[in-house]
Amino acid sequence: MRISLLFAIILGATNGILCQNASAYNVPVKVETIYHFNSSVSLEKLAIRKSGEAIVCFDNSADIYQVDPDLINGSVRHIHTFEGYLTAHGIVEVEDDQFYVAVSNLSVWNHIDVLGSPSIFHVNMTGFPEHRARVREVAHFPDSRILNAMEVISKETGLIYVGDSALGVINILNVNTGHHYMAINNSYTTIYPLDSGNGVYGIHLFQPQNESTKYLYLSNFKQGIIARVPINPESGLPVGEPTVVVSNLTSVAEFALDKEGNIFAALFSLNQFVRVDHETNEVLVLAGGRNIDTYTKAVSVVFGRTESDKGQLYAVTNGGFTALHNVGAGLFRLDTQDMAVV
Ligand SMILES: *[C@@H]1O[C@H](CO)[C@@H](O)[C@H](O)[C@H]1NC(C)=O
Ligand SMILES: *[C@@H]1O[C@H](CO)[C@@H](O)[C@H](O)[C@H]1NC(C)=O
Ligand SMILES: *[C@@H]1O[C@H](CO)[C@@H](O)[C@H](O)[C@H]1NC(C)=O
Ligand SMILES: *[C@@H]1O[C@H](CO)[C@@H](O)[C@H](O)[C@H]1NC(C)=O
Ligand SMILES: *[C@@H]1O[C@H](CO)[C@@H](O)[C@H](O)[C@H]1NC(C)=O
Ligand SMILES: *[C@@H]1O[C@H](CO)[C@@H](O)[C@H](O)[C@H]1NC(C)=O
Ligand SMILES: *[C@@H]1O[C@H](CO)[C@@H](O)[C@H](O)[C@H]1NC(C)=O
Ligand SMILES: *[C@@H]1O[C@H](CO)[C@@H](O)[C@H](O)[C@H]1NC(C)=O
Repeated sequence: MRISLLFAIILGATNGILCQNASAYNVPVKVETIYHFNSSVSLEKLAIRKSGEAIVCFDNSADIYQVDPDLINGSVRHIHTFEGYLTAHGIVEVEDDQFYVAVSNLSVWNHIDVLGSPSIFHVNMTGFPEHRARVREVAHFPDSRILNAMEVISKETGLIYVGDSALGVINILNVNTGHHYMAINNSYTTIYPLDSGNGVYGIHLFQPQNESTKYLYLSNFKQGIIARVPINPESGLPVGEPTVVVSNLTSVAEFALDKEGNIFAALFSLNQFVRVDHETNEVLVLAGGRNIDTYTKAVSVVFGRTESDKGQLYAVTNGGFTALHNVGAGLFRLDTQDMAVV
């Protein structure tokens, strides 16, 4: 990143073509299609295993699949079907290869969900695919509607955040005991204007390099914002007022933060993946566009984890599953290594 930025600055100074700002990055970025699902699959979330494989959560059935990003085509394996549920909307890893998946009853066709249907399951991926994933229920959420975003507060204590996008609140769950409660409900997690739709969508902890305060960053789909609230790193509870970090991010779904606090986000209805600069707030379109159907319904992003994947951004789209023109859900890899500090 440093080298290319410096290069751009020198170029800009010498011939005046490029400028000394984030727009000097080469966009659209290079994108590889890792896997294109058929039109009977809608995707929602993804996670990356330590060994580099992606785990994708289906939106139109409670299935999770593994996709090997190094084997284009023919690289998809079924991991598990959660019987008795209609959708798998959230995933987080607590210890190595120990994932927690949120499932519930939501119809992707009419977007009607069932209050009290969500549960969270532990999915032990150790040894997969040689050994089957071992799956057990951790907690049932009788007061919840659609559990979506998940983030680890502490591996040691087993505390995680679990967002409810339909209620517009964030819960805290202890994955070891199953105990959970509603922890955060503020003007930026809620659905506003108050009708149907999604409120809080993605949630990620971040500690700025120059500060001792830890923040919970959250995207709000309906409000089109990313906000943050300072938290107590042990309990996960807020210790101050929430503030907006960036607004006018139409239908922002999942996002990822790099070490500097630059935000990489999926803008669902704009079919775009964007980068928001942590200093200037400049929004740079990395790939896609309103009328470009390659990335129809951009929904989730996460950084790669292996050495060879450093600065690569994995991304999924749902393909416009319920639209007349369904292009099929996709898993992509965006080359963001020049602009992400990971
Ligand atoms: C960045 O550079 C571009 C290209 O020259 C220019 O159009 C844009 O206004 C600049 N943006 C900022 C925030 O300085
Ligand atoms: C679509 O893909 C899924 C997941 O790979 C598979 O289970 C299903 O059989 C496929 N459906 C069709 C019609 O090919
Ligand atoms: C993967 O499969 C798709 C659809 O069958 C095909 O168009 C594409 O060329 C294949 N990619 C590779 C790398 O084989
Ligand atoms: C969820 O949907 C499945 C399949 O339709 C059904 O068997 C199950 O009882 C539903 N659960 C709840 C809590 O509504
Ligand atoms: C995961 O499964 C492996 C193999 O069965 C087992 O040794 C390990 O204890 C399990 N881990 C957890 C956290 O359940
Ligand atoms: C969140 O807070 C608002 C405002 O106080 C309240 O109206 C709403 O019922 C709360 N949501 C839940 C799920 O308790
Ligand atoms: C940390 O740095 C950011 C910009 O890089 C700045 O906006 C912020 O005020 C700094 N915070 C502290 C506590 O110095
Ligand atoms: C909001 O973002 C859109 C692009 O998504 C842009 O066209 C518009 O000018 C922005 N509005 C404001 C007020 O910044």
